[in-house]
Amino acid sequence: MSDKTLSEDILRLLNERSTINSLSLSNELSIDHQKIVGVIKSLQSFGDIIQCSQHESKRFDLTREGQQMVENGSHEAVVWKAVPEEGIEQTLLMKSFTDANVAKLGFSKAMSQKWIVIDKTSNKPIVKRKVDAIEDEVQLLLNRISHMDINEVNEQQKQDLKKRKLIQEVIVKSYDIEKGENFSLNVEKQETDITGEMIAKGSWKEKQFKDYNFDAMGIPPERGHLHPLLKVRQQFRQIFLEMGFTEMPTNRFVESSFWNFDALFVPQKHPARDLQDTFFLSDPQTCNEVPVDYMARVKQVHSCGDFGSQGYQYEWKTEETRKNVLRTHTTAISARMLHDLAQECKGKAFRPVKLFSIDRVFRNESLDATHLAEFHQIEGVIADVGLTLGDLMGIIREFFLKLGIGNLRFKPTYNPYTEPSMEMYSYHEGLNKWVEIGNSGVFRPEMLLPMGLPPNVNALGWGLGLERPTMIKYGINNIRDLCGHKMDLQLVYDNPLCIL
Ligand code: PHE
Repeated sequence: MSDKTLSEDILRLLNERSTINSLSLSNELSIDHQKIVGVIKSLQSFGDIIQCSQHESKRFDLTREGQQMVENGSHEAVVWKAVPEEGIEQTLLMKSFTDANVAKLGFSKAMSQKWIVIDKTSNKPIVKRKVDAIEDEVQLLLNRISHMDINEVNEQQKQDLKKRKLIQEVIVKSYDIEKGENFSLNVEKQETDITGEMIAKGSWKEKQFKDYNFDAMGIPPERGHLHPLLKVRQQFRQIFLEMGFTEMPTNRFVESSFWNFDALFVPQKHPARDLQDTFFLSDPQTCNEVPVDYMARVKQVHSCGDFGSQGYQYEWKTEETRKNVLRTHTTAISARMLHDLAQECKGKAFRPVKLFSIDRVFRNESLDATHLAEFHQIEGVIADVGLTLGDLMGIIREFFLKLGIGNLRFKPTYNPYTEPSMEMYSYHEGLNKWVEIGNSGVFRPEMLLPMGLPPNVNALGWGLGLERPTMIKYGINNIRDLCGHKMDLQLVYDNPLCIL
């Protein structure tokens, strides 16, 4: 039935009877109550055609268990029926029920109703019927309630059924409608817009116009949306800020090999510095601005050793250090920041720092479903007097706890710039195994002392990727669905905020 005929029917019935209740009407016409309510609401918008008042009433509905009992009988009846005339061993009887509720509840109810008895004369208890026939009152009452014969069920019985969770009270909202001041049997469709034609013909004078609804929600304006990676980045940033960390400036995708590798005590022959692993720039190929004194100390510690270290003992080359690369990790920025800190504290008291960065890095990887040549790193660095490995483990635990990851393990590893170094693992419930989630370590004296930091100052750091947590959070399996031209923009619009 169309809404128009339904509204005309309602008006006709209202003309015959002086008042109508939406719920009774829905039963009478076998039409969904929501549909009737919808039509009443639209009639209301025509002005004073009808008058409405909302009405609340209570009703009992059967729960799922209650519905099952209407079909199969109460648990106690099921138990009684399962006992054969000659009796059955109690353990066998109990095993015959698949539903634990039937076995436990049904058995004890059937006992207290005195429908069955346990015969303990032999060594195995036997259950026997005590009566030849039973009247399943619970099933009967539930049946009445499901047929709305609610008056046949007394208050005590209702409370008992409710306690057994077989029925539940629901509140039903309905409308009582009466004729309004401008009651009429047919409603003309109201116009929402005045058209040029109406003006030209003058027909607007006869038309009914719909009132403006100033309470309507506007159409949300089209606006910018954060990419999933940026939403997750925002959350990580929040965690660092809550822990008192300051953000490092990360606006330097092109970095010299000096800051990306040499300052971090990565030897010039290290495989990470190969063409296969790192993107080198062709234009401009080299950089000019490397601090000269500091570079001399870095050269010394690499090639001959210094500050109590024997170094690597190789011929360190300035040409190599000047080569520009796309930074391979954000630790290049951490090195710059620690060097700045060392300059700042010359002749002054040392200032402890807690720093973080979250930004893009580049590696010449073979591309697959989980690897791209560019990704994002999240990195934390702390420098203070007398820090230990225990401090690093503690802060990493606190950091991951804020992400909701409590189950952490550390495994020793190797980094040229940290000693000791540790990989972090977290237990993945879905994969049923420990997965690597990051890398960390205590920065080496060979890195910190040439910078000019006081010898009693230690620096700790840890890093992890942004992509993996984002893919897990938004259920994305292929990294190409997250970045690049295959990204589904609708996904970007629709994804909810990230709360870690
Ligand atoms: N730079 C390391 C990486 O790329 C992470 C790291 C940061 C390790 C700081 C130790 C200290 O995996």
